[in-house]
Amino acid sequence: MRSLWVCLVASLLGVAGCPSASGPDESVTYLSDVLPIFQSRCRGCHRPGGSSGIGLDLSESRSYDLIIDQPSIQNPIWTLVTPYDPPASLLYLKISLDGPPVGDRMPQVGGALSEHEITLIRKWIELGAPES
Ligand code: HEC
Repeated sequence: MRSLWVCLVASLLGVAGCPSASGPDESVTYLSDVLPIFQSRCRGCHRPGGSSGIGLDLSESRSYDLIIDQPSIQNPIWTLVTPYDPPASLLYLKISLDGPPVGDRMPQVGGALSEHEITLIRKWIELGAPES
C-alpha cells in the first residue's frame, strides 16, 4: 500500500519508473497544454494592444519568456510564474482564488477556468513549468 502511494505521488510529479497512475498524458508543457488555454480564455485581453491595460501578452509562444520568473507589472514583489512553486506564482493565484493578492481573479470575464484547466496549470508549474 505504501509503495503504491509513493508511486502515485511520483507519477503525479512526473517521475519515471512507476506504473502510470494518471494515464499516458504524463508531461504538461507550456506549448502543448498551457498556451492553448491562454489562447482560448486570455488572449481577448492579453495580446499586443489588448484591453488588459497592463500589456501582459499571453497570446503567443514567446509569451513564455514574459511570465517565467518575471515580476508582476502591478506589484513586482510577486513573480508571475515561479517554477516548482504554484503558491509563489501570481498567475496561478489569479486563476485559482476568488480574492487573489493582486487585482481580480482571471479571466476577468467569462467565468473561472475549469477545475481541469486549473489543475493542469498547477501541475505544469509543479513540474518546473517546462516550455516544451
Ligand atoms: C476581460 C479581460 C481579461 C481577460 C479575459 C483576462 N485578463 Fe488577466 N488581466 C486583465 C486586467 C484588466 C488586468 C489588470 C488588473 C488585475 O490584475 O485585476 C489583468 C491582469 C492579469 C495578471 C497580472 C499581471 C501583472 O503583471 O500584474 C495576470 C497574471 C493575468 N491577468 C492572467 C490572466 C490569465 C491567465 C487569463 C486567462 C485565464 C486572463 N488574465 C484573462 C484583464 C483580463
